Amino acid sequence: MDVLLTVPDLGLRRLHRGKVREMFEIDDDRLLMVATDRLSAFDVVFPQGIPGKGRVLTQMSALWFAATRHLVPNHLITTDLSGLDLPEEARPLLAGRSMVVRRARRIDVECVVRGYLAGSGWKEYQAGGTVCGVPLPQGLKLSSRLPEPIFTPALKNDLGHDENVPEAEVRRRFGDEVTDFIKERSLALYGFAAEQAEKAGIILADTKFEFGFDGDRIVLIDEVFTPDSSRYWPADRHREGEPVDSLDKQPVRDYVERIGWNKQPPAPELPEELIQETARRYADVLERLRQVLHAG
Ligand SMILES: Nc1ncnc2c1ncn2[C@@H]1O[C@H](COP(=O)(O)OP(=O)(O)OP(=O)(O)O)[C@@H](O)[C@H]1O
Ligand SMILES: [Mg+2]
Repeated sequence: MDVLLTVPDLGLRRLHRGKVREMFEIDDDRLLMVATDRLSAFDVVFPQGIPGKGRVLTQMSALWFAATRHLVPNHLITTDLSGLDLPEEARPLLAGRSMVVRRARRIDVECVVRGYLAGSGWKEYQAGGTVCGVPLPQGLKLSSRLPEPIFTPALKNDLGHDENVPEAEVRRRFGDEVTDFIKERSLALYGFAAEQAEKAGIILADTKFEFGFDGDRIVLIDEVFTPDSSRYWPADRHREGEPVDSLDKQPVRDYVERIGWNKQPPAPELPEELIQETARRYADVLERLRQVLHAG
């Protein structure tokens, strides 16, 4: 299987290179979003790729975009590249891992929804009983399910890390109308997806969305419900009070902890079996979700 680490010259202007995906300009109205097979953990990209990962991420996003259109419109136009003017030799590399999307004016908020206590949310809760300023009942443990999913936005900051802010700050910057819309749609999307995922034996612990303006309507952009934007937990491994291994990257996280990597670049080489195991996990999550989403 081919492993794509860097997208070759496509004759299109590259607008952005993220840790995993690359964004190209097709024209004023459309972008080409390509998911490579790069793997990141602890915000660092590994030297090796995960075969199939970019295609899994793209297919998963596409599946969820289709399944959630009734809740909110989204930017996906097509995953079929035949109508685009591209170098012939690039077509097989791009196939299955690319989306043509409507170019939107991004609303600079990461719309995070949490249904369970994990990660930075757990740290903040331990320190003061809140998550992003949202007060929560006492007595919750690591990995506890929250009484209700909560909206915990972060401001997108192109320079470095996103900054968690109280919802009031989002209201101050973007106004009540926009804030109400993105908050309500985020909670609705999470609720729907968490319910579907549960049927596949998967807990969607938390996730994040981005929205943008397409003309004067707000649409869902970027990627949606991928393991890169969400915490997927195997339901049968969930124990309150204990950390839960994420379905996709946990073997990699465990490995780098074991060898004592300090989590600063460069990331270490990963053993071949670990790469194959990770590839299998990504493919397995996609397959399980495909079954429930197609059944529903
Ligand atoms: N339809 C769209 N219109 C305009 N911009 C979009 C659209 N969809 C996604 N984007 C933007 O494209 C970029 C995709 O970048 P990507 O997620 O690969 O990298 P990143 O967010 O900078 O870093 P990270 O690797 O941490 O995710 C994001 O800045 C996202 O906001
Ligand atoms: Mg991103």
